[in-house]
Amino acid sequence: MRSAILEVLKHNSGQYVSGEDISHTLKVSRTAVWKHIRGLKEDGYDIEAHPRLGYALRHNTDRLLPAEIKAQLTSRILGREIHYFSETDSTNNEAKKLAADGCPEGTVVVAEAQVSGRGRLARGWFSPYGKGIWLSVVLRPPFSPMEAAKCTLMAAVAVNRAINAVTGAGCGIKWPNDILCNGRKVVGILTEMSAEMDAINHIIIGMGINVNIEPFDFPAELAATATSLAIASGHQVSRLKLLTTILAELENVYIPVKTSGFGSVLEDWKSQSITLGQLVDVRGFDRSFTGVAINIDVDGALLIETAQGLERVLAGDVSIRPAAPN
Ligand code: BTN
Repeated sequence: MRSAILEVLKHNSGQYVSGEDISHTLKVSRTAVWKHIRGLKEDGYDIEAHPRLGYALRHNTDRLLPAEIKAQLTSRILGREIHYFSETDSTNNEAKKLAADGCPEGTVVVAEAQVSGRGRLARGWFSPYGKGIWLSVVLRPPFSPMEAAKCTLMAAVAVNRAINAVTGAGCGIKWPNDILCNGRKVVGILTEMSAEMDAINHIIIGMGINVNIEPFDFPAELAATATSLAIASGHQVSRLKLLTTILAELENVYIPVKTSGFGSVLEDWKSQSITLGQLVDVRGFDRSFTGVAINIDVDGALLIETAQGLERVLAGDVSIRPAAPN
């Protein structure tokens, strides 16, 4: 009923609609209308109430509410079930619980804020309220657990494409899963899997996108390395538009991957990469080295030419050396 009332208000774009008209059209009591209007206001909709004229929707909400996402969604599988949190510990944690309880493929978890957002290598993820997209998607791919790492590359391709389409910010992918703008990180992706020896139960793709974070919002330890799309593009970015574009792009790459494998994703990844051709420092679990990133192989591993020969990196921390001054 709340969404039906919202539709009536949206339909009348900013004009007053009387409580009596709404109750008559939707066949509910005026008290119920009033209660739902109060709920919509709590959801962040800017609704003006006038004792004689009724209710008018002044501004749409900026929150990533399921009804708003669904109204703009073009993907069919991703986002068919959406779980929204004003605040949670981590959307990946929520998605894991839902996946273990059997939620359908394409289930999405989104939060305005995360209090214990998680990054790769047991790091945290800065997730302030309403300024980013903190999002997890549950996939149930039919391929073997060995292929799972490539889902991260797939997500990076989709998010980078969506960002460049919506903001024009000119970002690129740093192996394996960071998206950088002007040399600073705007997106991190944390892929987590539950699997048997030969089959994946589910994969959670967690994406953290710094959308409208201002320079002074970042904590000191991120100030020199992180940025946001608003900073990079010079304007505020619609989180709703970006979120729905990400889901559409992710579905566009995921569906062919399910039937034909990762070939086209790897090619797209290479064309969007800012790592290939660069001098990089690799900090692995047991060793560190430096070399030129020359390619990725069919498993998504980074191939690095070092003074000692070719190295293959499947996991680890890679940093790009800044170009030497001329
Ligand atoms: C990285 O270290 O680069 C990965 C960061 C991933 C952050 C996202 S935010 C949404 C999802 N929930 C989490 O707790 N982490 C991921």
